[in-house]
This record gives sequence, structure tokens and C-alpha cells, in this order.
Amino acid sequence: MTSHLADRLTPLIRNCWYVLCWSTEASRDLRSRRVCGDDVLFYRTSAGQVAVMRNRCRHRSFPLSRGRLQGDNVVCGYHGLVYAPSGKCVFAPSDPDNRSDISAQTYPFIEREGLIWIWPGDPTLANQSLIPSTPWFTRPDWDYVSGYMPYPANYVALHENLMDLTHFAYLHTGNIGTQEYAAAPFKVATKGSRVNICRTLERCSLPALLAFPTGLGDKLVTRITDTWYESPALNLTNSTVVDPSPEPGSTARFEFKVVHFITPATQSTTHNFYAVARKFRVGDPSVPEHTRMCFEKAFREDQDALMWIEEAQALEGIDFAEIHVRSDRGSLLMRRDLKKRALQEQSPPGCSENYVA
Ligand code: FES
Ligand SMILES: [Fe+2]
Repeated sequence: MTSHLADRLTPLIRNCWYVLCWSTEASRDLRSRRVCGDDVLFYRTSAGQVAVMRNRCRHRSFPLSRGRLQGDNVVCGYHGLVYAPSGKCVFAPSDPDNRSDISAQTYPFIEREGLIWIWPGDPTLANQSLIPSTPWFTRPDWDYVSGYMPYPANYVALHENLMDLTHFAYLHTGNIGTQEYAAAPFKVATKGSRVNICRTLERCSLPALLAFPTGLGDKLVTRITDTWYESPALNLTNSTVVDPSPEPGSTARFEFKVVHFITPATQSTTHNFYAVARKFRVGDPSVPEHTRMCFEKAFREDQDALMWIEEAQALEGIDFAEIHVRSDRGSLLMRRDLKKRALQEQSPPGCSENYVA
């Protein structure tokens, strides 16, 4: 019987808006990034517009990113086909009369709030209203730190890592986790296909990540970690620290957003575009460096953990009867949604016998 949980072998979901890159990564250089198995070229025209197309010449599959820009057009570095930013071939040196129906493969894409989103699936389903709103990157009362990290693992494992933050206490000891975090009470809820797991710690001390920017040091506070699986492309944590006895005139409530835009690169590699936004000490130059240092250390620890798990599963197979514990509840609901979406894409319309609920 087919498992109802997504795993590293589940087909990647293409009908979804994924982050291709931060806006700051797109420039007059030809760059490429793999999305759901496809190598995708991106650059900006001289007017600053983003151009996106498959990084594979229609003639003999030469990577277009290894060619060059000629004005706003891309010249293939092998036999010189020239592609406009729209993907349409506008010149074929050795066959100048036969180019009208040649085009690089293109994808729906949009630049919005500092991100470039791409839809690698059926273009007729690419509804822009499905792109999540990310107001913390543009609103003046928020500030943020952002980055990118590749993971040598299937994207389901990264979603699962983020849905069970028990691992804070063990994999990220002292940095973003404290010992009592693992045993903290939590609630799991769903809203449509979204899955939520929320942990609340009362009278707890803070790890370095939160103690420094809040200025709360070793004071005992309330820490709420409210994590949402939003879609195959996004995990969002609303992290709140409440000081029960603030000094007169000082802040009592500190809000963070920890955002992971998750884009499957291949079946066994994943892009993680992350951001940590805060609604206090906006513009304070002392915060970003500390936040970046704490998170990059933690994400490298996650990178190692997921790589070791991926290796074990690749070498020995996944038929291992893994056990589940109580804190897996959110992640199991998330994996169920990913599997359902993947099977819906694999099945022709009206056919659902592959999905076992
Ligand atoms: S492979 Fe690009 S022109 Fe031949
Ligand atoms: Fe982690």
C-alpha cells in the first residue's frame, strides 16, 4: 500500500510558487539555479527587468548561463543562437531564416517584495494570488536579516526539521535552544492545508539568539514559538518573547518572524532562503551581525544533520520502520499534505486511487 506520508522519494511538487532568488541576486550577470530538477537562468535587462528562462539551449542543451549577454539578449556560447529576455530566439547564425518557432522554455515568474518567485508547474494554474504576502520585508516598522543556504537533502526533511523544534535543545544547544525547550508543551492545529505547531515556555531563560537583541539577558520570560507549514515553499515561525516585569518605559513584547522559503532543487538537494525579521530595534546596526552569526551556525548544524540522514536513507533505503513520537504530529500532517499534493499532480484529472488517506 502506498504510504500517505511524503518522503525523499515522493515526486517533487511543481504546481507551486517557489522562491527562485532574492531580488538582490538578479543582476546583469547570467546566473542559474535549479528548481524541481530544471536548471533556470535569471538576469536583469538594462532597464532592470528580470528575465527568466530554462538554462538549456533549445539546440544542443548548452547551458545558456555559460554564454554571454549582448544588450538584453543571451547569446548561446556553443553555436550562437540568440534569445530575447522573453525566451524567444531572435537570431540563429547558421540558419537565419528558420528561427521563428524556436523559444527557450519559460516559466511564470514575478518579482515582489524583494523576492523573485517562479512557478515550475502547469502555467495555466499559476495564480499570483497564491503567492504569500511578506510585508515584514517592506514595512518601515520591521527590519530583517536574510541569507541563502543550500541543503544536501530532500526538501521534505527540511520541512520536517522546522516542524519539530525539539531539535533546538540538542542540535543547537545554547545557541538557539535551551534544554527545557524539548519538553515544553505544544499544540498542533490545521487551517485548510496549513499546519501549525505552537510551543509556549513560561518562566524560561533565553538562548543567545534572543537574549542579545531583546537585551533581556538571563531574565526569566515567556517564549512562544508559533510555527506554520504554509505550503511546500514556505515555513513561517512567529517567535514572541514577553517580559512579565519590564522596567518602566521599556519594551515588554518582542516579535520576530523566522522565514524559510524552501525550494526543491533536485530530489536530494534543497535551497533554503531564510530571513529573520524583528519589530523592535529597527535600524540598530548591532543586531544583524549577531542574528546572522547565531542563525548561520544553527543552519550549518541543520545542514550536517540533514546530509547525514539523507546519506543513511540513500545508502540503506527508506524501508526502515521509523518510529514517530508525540512532537511529530505537526510534521506528519505536513507530510500528508505534501504527499497528497504530489499524487494529485501525478494522477490524471478525476483519478485519485493512488492516494490512501
Ligand atoms: S547549443 Fe546553443 S546554439 Fe547550439
Ligand atoms: Fe535547526
